[in-house]
Amino acid sequence: MSNYDIIIIGGGPGGYVCAIRAAQLGLKTACIEGRETLGGTCLNVGCIPSKALLHASELYYETKKNFKTMGIEVDSPVINWEKMLSYKNRMIKQNTQGIEYLFNKNKVDHIRGWGEIDGVGSVKVDGKKYTSKNIVIATGSIPTSLPGIEIDQKTVVDSTGALELPEIPESMVVIGAGIIGLEMGSIFSRLGSKVTVIEYLNRITTEMDAEVSSELQKLLKRQKLKFILDSAVKKVEKTSSSASVTYIQNANNSEHTIETSVVLVATGRQAFTDRLGLDSVGIKVNKTGKIEVAKNFQTSCKNIYAIGDVTTGPMLAHKAEDEGIAIAEIISGQKGHVNYNIIPSVIYTAPEVSSVGKTEEQLKEEGIVYKVGKFPFMGNGRAKVNFSADGFVKILSSMDTNRILGAHIIGPGAGDLIHEICVAMEFGANAEDLARTCHAHPTVSEAVREAALACCDGAIHF
Ligand code: NAI
Repeated sequence: MSNYDIIIIGGGPGGYVCAIRAAQLGLKTACIEGRETLGGTCLNVGCIPSKALLHASELYYETKKNFKTMGIEVDSPVINWEKMLSYKNRMIKQNTQGIEYLFNKNKVDHIRGWGEIDGVGSVKVDGKKYTSKNIVIATGSIPTSLPGIEIDQKTVVDSTGALELPEIPESMVVIGAGIIGLEMGSIFSRLGSKVTVIEYLNRITTEMDAEVSSELQKLLKRQKLKFILDSAVKKVEKTSSSASVTYIQNANNSEHTIETSVVLVATGRQAFTDRLGLDSVGIKVNKTGKIEVAKNFQTSCKNIYAIGDVTTGPMLAHKAEDEGIAIAEIISGQKGHVNYNIIPSVIYTAPEVSSVGKTEEQLKEEGIVYKVGKFPFMGNGRAKVNFSADGFVKILSSMDTNRILGAHIIGPGAGDLIHEICVAMEFGANAEDLARTCHAHPTVSEAVREAALACCDGAIHF
């Protein structure tokens, strides 16, 4: 007899959400987590702590930038970094304890320790064996580094170390202009560090719609971030209190060096499967180390499933959560399903950037005939009042049917605004459905409606 119906290895957004849903569906459930606290990378060293620092640094910036204009006179704000870090740590604690509470409420057993698969239906934790009819691997991912670059979490840090720096560095070189590099780079830039971002490719955030990428780069440059594109970092040498970063410009092979207080390596993440015992049951991984799964999340071993960052697809907490719910439903006999065509992506810079569905580049490549409905926040009254009129909403719809194929927003609250378009797309809506939906005035969401109108007979306020 098995101890459990389902054991989940990993208590991050994929694992803990899967555990809660499985228990709600009546399965006897355990979740094994090696960290002290639940919540995985997202709650402990990722989304939540970075958002605390983003929020605090944005308010600091706003205080300096716009308070006087609005008639609020305060003494020049001063950063207490130690307090800012403890605010961030309190937020982590509140959130991770929240998951603990949810486990108790839903009767999920929380097993502390690192789990190792020990044959089909069996997991060992600190020498103790647990058996289960089903095992779900949700062990997530860890930051990658570059060959020859040693992360010491002091002078050369990854995203985890950047959240714990003992002081705000005078300067920071960020290697990689992906989501992590830009979010962390903009935090420290707002707090006063001189930030230089070095990117191998010739544009930032390469997976995004190109027009949005270039708008984001323009706005970040205005916030004093410096960009060196089309350049490969080759070497980082540490001195006692700083580092020198050597990069090669791809265009002419010339070599350059920059001195900096701190280097942030943000060149991607890789699946985390160390000491998981995959070989003991013959689970296959692909060339990048990600676990291969079938449509129903089953690995090459029966009754062992994998979800989230450890498998293929975007490394996003919400993608992992959706897979967690789907696999719990599948195991309990329902028809769990994830619509990979409608997974939003958000960059929490200021302004935020969000997207869902196809980019213009993808539509061109696929030979799909489309139209563009674009509306700038400059035409939105609420955004102007809030001093946040940079950016635009861009909706891409089918030339034939006007069905929404993708949407890209850069501007105030973009991370929230995208969801009405996701819902519309889930229901197969066309731009006219969105355009005919009454939007409250004055809200920034009117810009979404205006972009939809621009896919029809034209926007009103532009
Ligand atoms: P990334 O893969 O998005 O970007 C890394 C960048 O580094 C690439 O543009 C690459 O060309 C560049 N690069 C690599 N080697 C280089 C070199 N030697 N010199 C210069 N540039 C180099 O990786 P990132 O930003 O670390 O994010 C990792 C994952 O975490 C992503 O999948 C991301 O979606 C996810 N994530 C999502 C967040 C969100 O949804 N807001 C927040 C944080 C992470």
